[in-house]
Amino acid sequence: MLISGTAIEPSSFRRALGHYASGITVITSHLDGELVGFTCQSFYSVSVNPPLVSFSVMAGSASYPKIRQAGRFMVNILSGEQVGISNRFAQRGADKWHGVQWQASPLGNPIIDGCLHWLDCEIHAEHVAGDHLIVIGEVKALNLQTAAATQPLLYFKGQYRNLAMHEVA
Ligand SMILES: Cc1cc2nc3c(=O)[nH]c(=O)nc-3n(C[C@H](O)[C@H](O)[C@H](O)COP(=O)(O)O)c2cc1C
Repeated sequence: MLISGTAIEPSSFRRALGHYASGITVITSHLDGELVGFTCQSFYSVSVNPPLVSFSVMAGSASYPKIRQAGRFMVNILSGEQVGISNRFAQRGADKWHGVQWQASPLGNPIIDGCLHWLDCEIHAEHVAGDHLIVIGEVKALNLQTAAATQPLLYFKGQYRNLAMHEVA
């Protein structure tokens, strides 16, 4: 069935977008001794020179105002073993950091132990887009070491997935 125009319901919109497979990140920051973070699928690279990345965050996010105030954020790209971390940071108001091991990045952002890779960013710009904000960050440091974890955490059609490492020619 073709659905178009004003008839697009949020559930149909989400279901359609669920066909776009992606990795999963947790965007974290540190403000006045408080650790903040939320699970984020809408991450992508924007520019190589300067190195810019972006994510979108819902306007009602409790974490983002603190990230904005800190002026910097960490992109933790989750590994295949971090479903629990993804679920934990997708909760609202919970003590998301209880028992989570982390280390400080060069900018002072928390790097969650066991992530596949990380990018240390300063906020470069912010744009209002409907019920979300598009946040653009300038990458100031990144992980130059090969991560111990090798598998990404993937998300497709509302489910976490593993990568069967078959290359498609
Ligand atoms: C797989 C997955 C992907 C998500 N991606 C996003 C996203 O891109 N942007 C967003 O604002 N919330 C996203 N969320 C929802 C937030 O993680 C969730 O609303 C969280 O509770 C927000 O926390 P906060 O209120 O502390 O910011 C995602 C949740 C899941 C489970």
